[in-house]
Order: sequence, then C-alpha cells, then structure tokens
Amino acid sequence: MSSYEIVFQPSGKRGRCRVDQSLLEAARQIGLDLVSVCGGAGKCHRCKVTVLKGQVSPHTAAELGAFSPEELESGWRLACQTYPAGNCELNVPPESMTAPQRTQVEGLEVAVPLEPPVQAYHLRFSSSEPRVGADSLLQALNEQHQLSCASVDVELLSTLPVQLPSWDWQCQATIRQGEVVALGPWPSRQLGLAVDLGTTKIAGYLVDLSTGRTLAAKAIMNPQISYGEDVISRIARVLDSTVEGERLQKLVVEALDNLVGDLCAEVGADVTQTVEMVVVGNTAMHHLFLGLPVDRLARAPFEPAVSAAQDVKGRDLGLRIAPGAYVHLLPNIAGFVGGDHVAMLLATEAWQADGPTLALDIGTNTEVSLVNNGEITAVSCASGPAFEGGHIKDGMRAASGAIEWVRIDDDGVQYQTIGDAPPIGVCGSGVLDAMAQLYLAGVIDAGGKVQDNHPRVRTGEDGREFVLVGEEERDGRPAIVITQKDVRELQLAKAAVRAGVQVLLQANGCSDDDVRQVIIAGAFGTYIDVSSAITIGMLPSLPLERFRQVGNAAGTGARLALISLSKRVEAQTIADRVRYIELSTDPRFQELFIQATRLSSPT
Ligand code: FES
Repeated sequence: MSSYEIVFQPSGKRGRCRVDQSLLEAARQIGLDLVSVCGGAGKCHRCKVTVLKGQVSPHTAAELGAFSPEELESGWRLACQTYPAGNCELNVPPESMTAPQRTQVEGLEVAVPLEPPVQAYHLRFSSSEPRVGADSLLQALNEQHQLSCASVDVELLSTLPVQLPSWDWQCQATIRQGEVVALGPWPSRQLGLAVDLGTTKIAGYLVDLSTGRTLAAKAIMNPQISYGEDVISRIARVLDSTVEGERLQKLVVEALDNLVGDLCAEVGADVTQTVEMVVVGNTAMHHLFLGLPVDRLARAPFEPAVSAAQDVKGRDLGLRIAPGAYVHLLPNIAGFVGGDHVAMLLATEAWQADGPTLALDIGTNTEVSLVNNGEITAVSCASGPAFEGGHIKDGMRAASGAIEWVRIDDDGVQYQTIGDAPPIGVCGSGVLDAMAQLYLAGVIDAGGKVQDNHPRVRTGEDGREFVLVGEEERDGRPAIVITQKDVRELQLAKAAVRAGVQVLLQANGCSDDDVRQVIIAGAFGTYIDVSSAITIGMLPSLPLERFRQVGNAAGTGARLALISLSKRVEAQTIADRVRYIELSTDPRFQELFIQATRLSSPT
C-alpha cells in the first residue's frame, strides 16, 4: 500500500503515513500528541491542523460542519478526518497539541505507622554450598531468621547461582506474605511505587519502604489520551477491537515503566529495587491496565468485571520492576466509582468524619460521597469534559497559557494565565470563574442566557459571545470568547455535579445546611475558586471555611496503601461500606438535574 511523507510544523517532526491512515494516526505514530477528545470520531473539532503543502482527501461532512467556508479555504482540516493523497506539510496550532499540563502530585501528608507488605532479610551462604535453590533459600530464612516461608518466585532462581558469588555469598531477600519476591545484594534499598492512574494524568511517587518517606514524585500525561480524552471514548475503541485493548494496556505499562525509570534515576536507584507497587484509578483505567473486559462498563447497570482489591505480578502486566514484585490495586466500588475514590476517602479520612461530610473528586466524571453517621453513600456524575476545557469553544486543559482566573468589573476584564504565558485559551477553572463573573455582572441571567447588555458581548458563529481577550490584544489572532454554547455546556456539567450532591443529601434526609464539611480533591478541584462554584450553584452555599481543597488525595491514598497493610484493610472496609446510587436510574435525578441547570442567587 502506498505511503507518503508527512511533515508536522512547527516541530518539524516527520514520518510516513499510509493512504488508509488518517493524519491523526500518522501524528500518533511519530509520537506527536494531538488532542482528540472524541477519539477520532470527527465530533470534538479539537484535532485541527492546516495543510500548508500537498494533496489530501476531500472534506468530510464533519469538517464541513466544523469550519467556516473561509477556514476551509485557508486549509483548515480535522486531522482525524483527513487522509494523505501525496507528500504533505501541515501546521499544528498550539491548541491542538496535548501540551504538558499542570500536573499535580502534591497532596495531603498523612503520617501512619510503617507496616509495609514486604520485609527485607539478610541471608548468608557458604561459598562451599552447592548450587543455591529454592529449598536452600527457604531453609536459610528458617535457620537465620526463624521465618517460615512457603515459596520463592521462580524467576529469581534462574539468575541466583551466578549472582550469589558476585554478592559475596550473601543477599537481601524480600519477603511478601511468605513468598520470596526479590533478591539483591546486601544491603539493597527497598523501594515502592504508588501510582494514581488518572484518565488524563498519571502521578507516581517513589517511596522508601524502610522509612515511608517519599523520595521523588512526578506526574506525566496518560498516553492513552490520544485514543480519546474520556473513558467512554477509550472503552468504545476497545469494544471495536480487542487489538486496541492490548494497545491501550501496553501504552500505560510503557508509561509506568518510564515513570519508575525516571523516578529511580532521580534518586540513583535501579528499577529492580522497586519491590512493591500500588495503583489506584477509576474503574475503566483499572480494567484497561489489567486487560480486563470493559463491556459491562459500557451498559447499564455499569458493573465492574471485578471489584475486590487485586494483587498481580508486575511482570505479568509487562512491568520491568523487581521480577517477583506485586502490584496491588485498591478495590472498586462501581463501574464509575473506582479505587481512586476509595483512596481519596482513605487519605482524607472523610469516611470517618463527624457530621455529614461531602467528598468530591471533580473531573470528566465526578465521584461524590456523602458520609453520614458512619454510612457512606456514593454517586458518579457524568459531568463531561467542560471542567477540563473540553466542548468549550476556546477551552483547553490546564496547561501553560490557559486563562485560569477571571474578574470582570467596570474597568473591564482581568485574567491570569497559567505560567503567566500569553493567553491561548481557557481552562476549566477559568470558564467557571468567567461564568460566575458574567452572572454577577448581569451579562448571564439565572437561566444561563447571555444578554446583549455589555460592550464586550457580540454575535459570533454560535450566537452571542462575550469577548475575554480581543483580537487586538492577541496581535490579530482570533479572540478568546465565552459563547452562549459554552455557558450551556458548563450549566450541564455543574448541574450534573449539583444534582448528584442533592440526590445524596435527599437519600440521607439531609439539607445543604447540615453539611459540616466539603472536601474537594483532584487537580481541577484544587484550582477552582470555591466562591465562583457557589455563585453558579455548583456547590452548596455554605461558609467558605467548611470547604477543604486537598490536592491529589488519591495519590496520597495510594502512598498510604503502599506503606501500610492496615490501610489496605481500611480501603477494603470503605469499599464494602459504600452504598452506591446509580443516578441514571434514580427517579429523583432528572428533576434535580433540570433544577440545577439554573444559576443560583449569588451569596
Ligand atoms: Fe478529530 Fe475529535 S474531531 S479527534
């Protein structure tokens, strides 16, 4: 089959693309991460490129709907809809790139007694000893440490006879629940990796298991993002083809291998010193990582293939940590409430709170729990991508140049961008702020309608729009606006969260005022202005001191589970105790949702 050379500007990256491959696939193949919220379905209009030179396939219906005649004339295309018909040169605008995002590894610091699942023992052998095998290892553990172990990971045995003389006939044996899972020279570091496997980001923490101290932390983008930014698109891809499932699993494993490699390099350790790993994630990420079937996550009643906590050999997943090391996965609660929510409840200790406590992790999918009198009730709200800048005309994720804070007063519009970079779009916290400010200024009414009462309101392609940054402030580049359609998107997103909260409160016979504490976790939740969220009615109108923004609490929960077996038991207790309410079948939800689309009175 013929193929053509494609050059992507401004990076200059190039590669070959077959005639049956889209430009999006060609970009992916050479490691250029284009935004593809809809996973290549032609719906999100985020994979925009311009064709600078060369021939490509005719416009599709999706493209005719995505661009104005002028834009089509200037060469704008959707990369997922366009196929090469010759060698081409393309330009990729910054907003089409999955720019390195404001990733977050900071979370709560919670001190717990050290109780790791692995223990290290020093063993000595005589140089005259015949070939050391499983029996002699187990015998040495018994004789030298009065430890009765049952098995040795077989992979360790093949290299031991060669390694032992080079280790001066002594070694460090790492024991996990009666199994020897790692061998190394004495003394070796005992490291563990805690991972928050998010849909968009992966946060990793390298922990010294002998002290419980976090030695290094790093967050990276989840490479599966090029297969769709939300879990639904990724599940759909896997349901289309099992090969895609294997690809997605491999992508995450490679990313984790690179992550642990980078973190170990940072502290001068070898990856094989990583003898235990804990992974928390939403149920879809959990299933895709383990290669489990995801079909039940795609249809009601949205049940996981497995809910209980899992212990899996890292090498069975393709991970290159210590050969016998295990990966522990925290339990799932439901199809859309996973181990990351359990980890959040664990880290914040919300599950043991006095007085009604709401705990939210806001994102494309927002998980909310209400803890009341020792009982936990949870819902999952399909809040959609608006909080991550998706489906918003000039929306983008929280990366450099994203407007994250907005104030509108008589002097005009003030805004702040991430990294103080020139503005290129608006991220979720910026959209939320803008909406609250426009409501307070009377530019948006309580029903969400944009009024024609402000000099910055004009009529654009999608109806009325408010200009946050005009063309003149951007050297003639298109203005950054909040459109009527954007307001509607955010209304739906915030209504999903608020209606979920209301269902929980009603199910527990509580009102807003009864809530003693609201814990908000996750990257988006950390950066939102809570008073803006209250203004638009997304969160209950409570005194600000009742809100706690706790950062990446799921990552903290993963770290706790890494160093404490008691915390793993606690995690299972939490998962067992949660009563899950499926909103799609709850009779209260629809009405509450419609009510919640309205913007509430400002406080
Ligand atoms: Fe191309 Fe969504 S329109 S990825």
